[in-house]
Amino acid sequence: MRLEEFVAVGVPVFTGADGPHLGSSMASAITGMAGTAALDAAWCKRQDFTGKVGQTLVFHAAGATPIRSSPSEGDALSSETDPPTAMVLVGLGGEAKLVGDAGLETLRRGAAAFIRAAGSGDAAAFVLPRELILPLHRVGAAVAEGALLGSYRYDAFRTAEPPAGLGRLVIITDSPAEELAAAEGSARGGRIAEAVSLARDLVNEPPSSLTPQKFADLFVQRFDDVPELSIEVWDEDRIASEKLGGLLGVARGSTQPPRLVKAEYLPADPIDIDGRTPHLVLVGKGITFDSGGLSLKTPGGMETMKTDMGGAAAVMCALDAIAALTARIRVTVMTPLTENMPSGSAIKPSDVLTARNGKTIEVLNTDAEGRLVLADALSLAVESGADAIIDLATLTGAAVVALGKEIAGLLGNDQGLLDQVKAASERSGEPVWPLPLPDDYRNHIDSEVADMRNVGRPGQAGSISAALLLREFVGDVPWAHLDIAGPARSDENLRYLTKGGTGFGVRMLVELVTSEEFAASLVQRSRPDQ
Ligand code: BES
Ligand code: MN
Ligand code: ZN
Repeated sequence: MRLEEFVAVGVPVFTGADGPHLGSSMASAITGMAGTAALDAAWCKRQDFTGKVGQTLVFHAAGATPIRSSPSEGDALSSETDPPTAMVLVGLGGEAKLVGDAGLETLRRGAAAFIRAAGSGDAAAFVLPRELILPLHRVGAAVAEGALLGSYRYDAFRTAEPPAGLGRLVIITDSPAEELAAAEGSARGGRIAEAVSLARDLVNEPPSSLTPQKFADLFVQRFDDVPELSIEVWDEDRIASEKLGGLLGVARGSTQPPRLVKAEYLPADPIDIDGRTPHLVLVGKGITFDSGGLSLKTPGGMETMKTDMGGAAAVMCALDAIAALTARIRVTVMTPLTENMPSGSAIKPSDVLTARNGKTIEVLNTDAEGRLVLADALSLAVESGADAIIDLATLTGAAVVALGKEIAGLLGNDQGLLDQVKAASERSGEPVWPLPLPDDYRNHIDSEVADMRNVGRPGQAGSISAALLLREFVGDVPWAHLDIAGPARSDENLRYLTKGGTGFGVRMLVELVTSEEFAASLVQRSRPDQ
């Protein structure tokens, strides 16, 4: 393999007190010699290139010779070297930081920046820095995720021909053994990125196109030829006969009928812990459009509300990858799907709904609809015999106020489960932060007429009162709730995110479900005295 075959070669560059410098792999990859190479500090300065994470600098080696050879190695890069089309200096920050979860995140960001700078063509190459202190299969996965997610586009509704993009990304390592490990990792990362991209597609699809029925159909088709996956779709009659009063109530204002999707993954090679297989249930909020209902949102508030099925998309797409990666625990997904619309048949503020588990909810604000549909799905999750439940929901604007656009709120009733979700989110690079769930705030949702009301106190702890309502439906099953109102959507092309749906949560869930430690803890947690 010759570097000239690539349209672009990504070269790791680190920050330093004397200006940016190349990592040690670069000199040897190109010249076969060991040692590091400094970059011309003045030239970098003119280009505003410091080597910070996410910065890139493209140049064509034929015309420019900005690289000084390392002092000990003589003429490392001469003009006789056949130049690759484009050299892309890829900033990776401080070389001491390429370790642990933060190091993986740096690689994702670096790979995304590289791919965005590389342009289109058959293949590009990314030279791995030797300064990594990380297992190569994790490195391969991170590079694949960053590169694929950074080059994601949603063109389904554009008439212009989309740009060609890159055919292949080759990761350049130091040895065949490293190459094998990196390739194995990048296959895994690539499959995960495929699932994340599907979640992004679903969020990005316009709401009158992606109806509850279409969402369900899509997964019926997709899971059809996967023997470990089964899927059931409940229509409005079944939803009524199963007494899903929250979902039915929210759906009442819409001409689109609701659906409840129940999908199940039974591993071919299940983990057996004391004669049983751990069972995780994932629940996702699937409001395919949230107008607010009769408590109508403002035009601006509605603009991004096709995103309100981001939780449902994340859990279904996570399941897709979980099956493809042959995880060894049992996973069930429940997604209540409906629009939230105003009309003559819509629920009215002060109506009372009865959820699946028999508890009653006074609906004072029809825009707090997510917790109503989740109440039913969480009740079903408990009935299905879950060892633990995790729900993902674009639930409250208050979560965005508290944590901004990039961090999800994490709440729940079991500290061990919360700790594991948090750790998985650090490994996947999808930040979450805990919020408390105090019993003392339960009176925020006390109702004048029913078991609870669907809003808390104005301007106070909105994400917490929403989660306190959800807690009424999980019984004593260990449960974690992720309020992804902020991170489900990005308002800009940022790092490996693209403007629009992010697929937030897919990678974290896959990470969690494929972790053996998690599998073992699931069984222990549900039977604490053994
Ligand atoms: N889907 C929204 C929450 C949301 C807001 C998601 C902004 C993403 C960005 C949810 O259904 C909602 O409308 N929540 C209300 C609750 C309130 C009425 C108690 C909110 O947050 O304003
Ligand atoms: Mn709403
Ligand atoms: Zn909503």
